[in-house]
Amino acid sequence: MQQTIIPTLTTIALPAVTLVQVEHLTRVIATRAQKTVILDDINFSVPEHSLFAINGPSGSGKSTLLNMLTGVDRPNSGRIIFGGEEIRAKSENALAKWRGEHVGIIFQFFQLVPTLTALENVLLALELGGGGGLPRREWRARAQQCLATVDMGELPHRLPSELSGGQQQRVAIARALANNPPVLVADEPTGNLDSKTAHAVFDTLANLTQQGKTVIYVTHDRELAGRADAGIALLDGRIVEQHGANAVVNGTTEVQS
Ligand SMILES: Nc1ncnc2c1ncn2[C@@H]1O[C@H](COP(=O)(O)OP(=O)(O)O)[C@@H](O)[C@H]1O
Ligand SMILES: [Mg+2]
Repeated sequence: MQQTIIPTLTTIALPAVTLVQVEHLTRVIATRAQKTVILDDINFSVPEHSLFAINGPSGSGKSTLLNMLTGVDRPNSGRIIFGGEEIRAKSENALAKWRGEHVGIIFQFFQLVPTLTALENVLLALELGGGGGLPRREWRARAQQCLATVDMGELPHRLPSELSGGQQQRVAIARALANNPPVLVADEPTGNLDSKTAHAVFDTLANLTQQGKTVIYVTHDRELAGRADAGIALLDGRIVEQHGANAVVNGTTEVQS
């Protein structure tokens, strides 16, 4: 009897595509008196469409690293390849243009314009960013859509002062989405929120990865960092832990007494 071969549906785990590759990154700040190594030979990669955490205590170098990933600060040595392009090779003007098109930024203290409503804050980002390629007549709908994405679609006409901290941060996320950048970066976006609200805002950021965004998220909160798809932990400018980041762990993990 002839056997029928039934094709089985197997899930093939595709290797993650690297969005950002960081190689031998070092940042030294020299004053007249001394040189301080702020980041010491950092190596890792950020998978595309992931929520990627940069964790570590205050002073460990998280913000310095984030500023280099967005080209705000430049390394002393090493390189960053972001979406196939080396950041260091760009001029300041080219970098500013690149940042505007590729990166949405979210801050710890929200930085909303207090005299503008939620919708107007998002519209302002479209104005400043040129609308992400959309014609002006579609900006209002786009702003409203960004607010809806972060569950703020019902409160477009509230001023920041009429919103809770968590709601203000959602509006700030909507603003970062306005020009449709592929990447969002956030420096302690939940650092000013209570734990429950912080987890809810984290969920909002995590949902964005389902819509194709890559989110690079700095936090000193180990629990939240542990919920990320991938990430590194820094201590004194070195990577001491990593998951899913192809990182070289080069710091000492010994706890000093
Ligand atoms: N411009 C600077 N001049 C001197 N030291 C700096 C400068 N920027 C950062 N540092 C130092 O580098 C270390 C890392 O800072 P930072 O990246 O802000 O850490 P984190 O964001 O993890 O709190 C800290 O010890 C900080 O004092
Ligand atoms: Mg910081």
